[in-house]
Amino acid sequence: MDPAASSRISLVTGATAGIGLAIAKELARVGHRVIINARRAEKLREVASELNELALARFPKSATARVVPVAGDASEHATIEACFDVATRAFGTGHGAGDTPVGIDAVIVNAGRGLAGSVVTSDESQWEEMVRTNLIGAARLMRTAALRMVASADEDAKVGRSWRQHPRDIVVIGSVVGRHVSPFSSMYGGTKFGVHGMTEGVRRELAPKGIRVTLIEPGFVVSEFQGVAGYKDEWFQGVVEKIGPVLQPEDVARSVGFVLAQPSHVHVSDILIRPTRQDYP
Ligand SMILES: NC(=O)c1ccc[n+]([C@@H]2O[C@H](COP(=O)([O-])OP(=O)(O)OC[C@H]3O[C@@H](n4cnc5c(N)ncnc54)[C@H](OP(=O)(O)O)[C@@H]3O)[C@@H](O)[C@H]2O)c1
Repeated sequence: MDPAASSRISLVTGATAGIGLAIAKELARVGHRVIINARRAEKLREVASELNELALARFPKSATARVVPVAGDASEHATIEACFDVATRAFGTGHGAGDTPVGIDAVIVNAGRGLAGSVVTSDESQWEEMVRTNLIGAARLMRTAALRMVASADEDAKVGRSWRQHPRDIVVIGSVVGRHVSPFSSMYGGTKFGVHGMTEGVRRELAPKGIRVTLIEPGFVVSEFQGVAGYKDEWFQGVVEKIGPVLQPEDVARSVGFVLAQPSHVHVSDILIRPTRQDYP
């Protein structure tokens, strides 16, 4: 028998590599319809077509694409709005009770980058891009998602439909260095401390509406992250030898799947996930 496809519609930013790619794959596997975003348009199209093949093999009754790419910088308003608009056009308004165009009911705020070194030693020319992506981009997406989800929850309430019938989630990928100070990556960690604070703030703001806002904080995960951040191969090899095996992106993706699969009255709001032998930070 075919597995039952989930009725949920997700958005995953940063889905051409690493953790975002693994999350998009996991959500497509359990039957979400998924908008994927990243800046490399060609690579994003390839990911969409690969995931569509997987999803259509699993859910053959689907007539149309289940995974749709929206290329662009996730820290920009225009890209964020395009993700929601494309979702509405591609997948309809989901369970929305009225005409409120809130198709997406699970937003994964993942796009981000690291930076080798501390406040004292890191490459200052990269600070602004990192802060824009990790902090401003995350805030913009959380805000857009929150406003749309609250509007949709209010529409539901008007027609007597409970939030319990329609789970809504914002899941943010922070970092272990956004909870425990690592002096060696304190500039990147600073952005993730900010993400940590914003996410908990939005959780407190949206909880009364039945909207779950979750922070997932991984330790070392092998991905394109190390190259983009500027860590030397020998340094990362040393980390792997000392505390490995380090996490794979799929290890983090399973946590996201776990959070989203909970019944609507259950909120696993914080997950810190490290390689077993990572003692610090
Ligand atoms: N790897 C780790 O050890 C680790 C640990 C803790 C937390 N994290 C966090 O996990 C998240 C994902 O990291 P990762 O390890 O998967 O890194 P990754 O392999 O480098 O992947 C990052 C993804 O984000 C996309 N991206 C970067 N900037 C973007 C932007 N401005 N707009 C849209 N997409 C953007 C990249 O694609 P394009 O280049 O195509 O845009 C790529 O798909 C980040 O928030 C990171 O801080 C990572």
